[in-house]
Amino acid sequence: MPHVVTQACCGDASCVYACPVNCIHPTPDEPDFGIAEMLYIDPATCVDCGACVSACPVGAIVPGHRLPEEAQRFVDVNAEHYGHTQDDFVRFPVPRDKRLPLAPISKPRAVRGGPDLLEVAIVGSGPSAMYAADELLKQPRVRVTVYERLDLPFGLSRFGVAPDHTSTRTVMNLFDDIARHPNITIALNTEIGRDVSLDELRARHHAVLWAGGAPTDKTLQIPGVELSGVQSATSLVGWYNGHPDFVDAGPDLSAERVVVIGNGNVALDVARILTGDVDELAKTDISRDALAALRSSAVREVVVAGRRGPEHAAFTLPELIGIADGHARVWVDPADLEGVWADGVDDPTLAAKLSLLQEISQRPKPAEPFIRLMFGKTPVAVVGQEKATGVRFVRTGTNLEETLDTGLVLTSIGYRGVPVAGLPFDENTGTIANVAGRVTDGGTPVPGMYVTGWIKRGPSGFIGTNKTDSGETVAHLLEDAEAGALSRVG
Ligand SMILES: Cc1cc2nc3c(=O)[nH]c(=O)nc-3n(C[C@H](O)[C@H](O)[C@H](O)COP(=O)(O)OP(=O)(O)OC[C@H]3O[C@@H](n4cnc5c(N)ncnc54)[C@H](O)[C@@H]3O)c2cc1C
Ligand SMILES: NC(=O)c1ccc[n+]([C@@H]2O[C@H](COP(=O)([O-])OP(=O)(O)OC[C@H]3O[C@@H](n4cnc5c(N)ncnc54)[C@H](OP(=O)(O)O)[C@@H]3O)[C@@H](O)[C@H]2O)c1
Ligand code: SF4
Ligand code: SF4
Repeated sequence: MPHVVTQACCGDASCVYACPVNCIHPTPDEPDFGIAEMLYIDPATCVDCGACVSACPVGAIVPGHRLPEEAQRFVDVNAEHYGHTQDDFVRFPVPRDKRLPLAPISKPRAVRGGPDLLEVAIVGSGPSAMYAADELLKQPRVRVTVYERLDLPFGLSRFGVAPDHTSTRTVMNLFDDIARHPNITIALNTEIGRDVSLDELRARHHAVLWAGGAPTDKTLQIPGVELSGVQSATSLVGWYNGHPDFVDAGPDLSAERVVVIGNGNVALDVARILTGDVDELAKTDISRDALAALRSSAVREVVVAGRRGPEHAAFTLPELIGIADGHARVWVDPADLEGVWADGVDDPTLAAKLSLLQEISQRPKPAEPFIRLMFGKTPVAVVGQEKATGVRFVRTGTNLEETLDTGLVLTSIGYRGVPVAGLPFDENTGTIANVAGRVTDGGTPVPGMYVTGWIKRGPSGFIGTNKTDSGETVAHLLEDAEAGALSRVG
């Protein structure tokens, strides 16, 4: 039975280049790579050689005959991407008979010209920083110093990825390997802008690459969000992952219902953790304070509220499968799915998502504590005096109001970058202004300044998305070095 890509896939495409028969798609040079929720193995072409398994940094690829029960659905998810019949292949941008026998690999070129030893500073040590460092260190005459404000490296792969996503968290082993290269130094507890100024950094290095992420959250602008009992998912995630900025962000878990506003993958993460089996969570990296609080939690139901219909849900199919077929208990009110059908939907990922939601809605209501996925409800106010006691919603597109009682409201409506002193900032996107990784001021490149990751493109995408993103930035940095455009400033 062919190999299968499963839930933990973070889209770094390492497997693509390991496969001897080019059967893992989309590849980074195919049009749908940027929007794919995971990569897929073509079961008709896979020769079961196993090469992709060792290439995958997060253990997401499993031989079909060894798939655990809760991952069986991924057999169809992989196959569906390629369609069942030859006619279905129109959906797939590169039909099997037009595919190259091997995925195209661009050989890293040696940089000629520029400084004898190119000194590069990277600000931040999250996935985008570590992938950038890896790409730079392919050049023999480059030295990289990574500056990280915290006392532990790797950004959201440590302090964001949910503790029960144990496979995904193993990506930190890859980053540890990168950090062992002799030409890289990681300076922890060093915040640029506080401990070292950006000017000092630019004076010490030929190039500075900002990879500081998008550390804050978008704020929900409705009456009542200032009440106690309302907090951001960002703070809750930081708290359960032991982020030093959020040690005091422990939530009040004395109410029976929690309402999460927004239905992206972060919302599913927090809902899973708040309803999870505490003995299982005890086996993970979850903070011990969070574990203790969860042991005495009164929470029986976590409502994940999306303002749009299920066809626009922001969570991805692999994560939905994770809660539907894994250990989480999840429920959808059939009324929320009225008029929504998977049949006739062209996009196989969306069709699979809708049909799984229908399937969940037909199941009996699970035992408590459980997650309720709610759709088509726009939050208009948090109600309460000093403390939140409920959330008032309107059915989206109507005036029909409904109030859900709750003592804890979590806003999970996305992250946002913050301005960096001395660098041009785009307020609309919450990113440092740039063109393909080169920082720009009024459209003109700022010499020696680069950007990558969430602060370059905005807060979306998986861990592996940052690999291609950082590849683009580093390519431009090396091009500028070759052109003799990089020198220490100041
Ligand atoms: C809650 C959550 C869960 C996620 N789970 C998954 C998942 O399961 N799978 C998946 O594929 N993707 C997941 N993602 C997405 C993934 O984490 C991001 O794509 C990725 O971390 C972005 O990388 P980054 O390097 O741009 O930013 P970050 O990971 O945020 O790294 C930025 C780093 O810069 C440091 N820094 C910031 N400012 C400074 C400064 N001035 N000086 C020094 N250091 C500084 C920060 O401390 C941090 O370490 C998740 C995201 C979130 C928010
Ligand atoms: N396991 C994983 O792979 C994993 C885990 C966590 C995070 N991530 C990734 O990290 C990124 C960030 O995730 P995220 O969940 O923070 O963001 P997200 O996917 O952008 O989801 C944001 C949610 O907030 C809603 N929203 C935005 N503004 C709102 C408002 N004013 N009122 C009500 N709802 C509002 C959005 O609804 P609309 O769609 O209607 O705007 C959407 O449901 C994503 O790319 C995600 O896939 C991945
Ligand atoms: S098992 Fe071999 S042939 Fe199959 S997808 Fe993996 S690398 Fe390709
Ligand atoms: S995480 Fe990377 S290597 Fe693993 S399956 Fe996904 S794209 Fe392939």
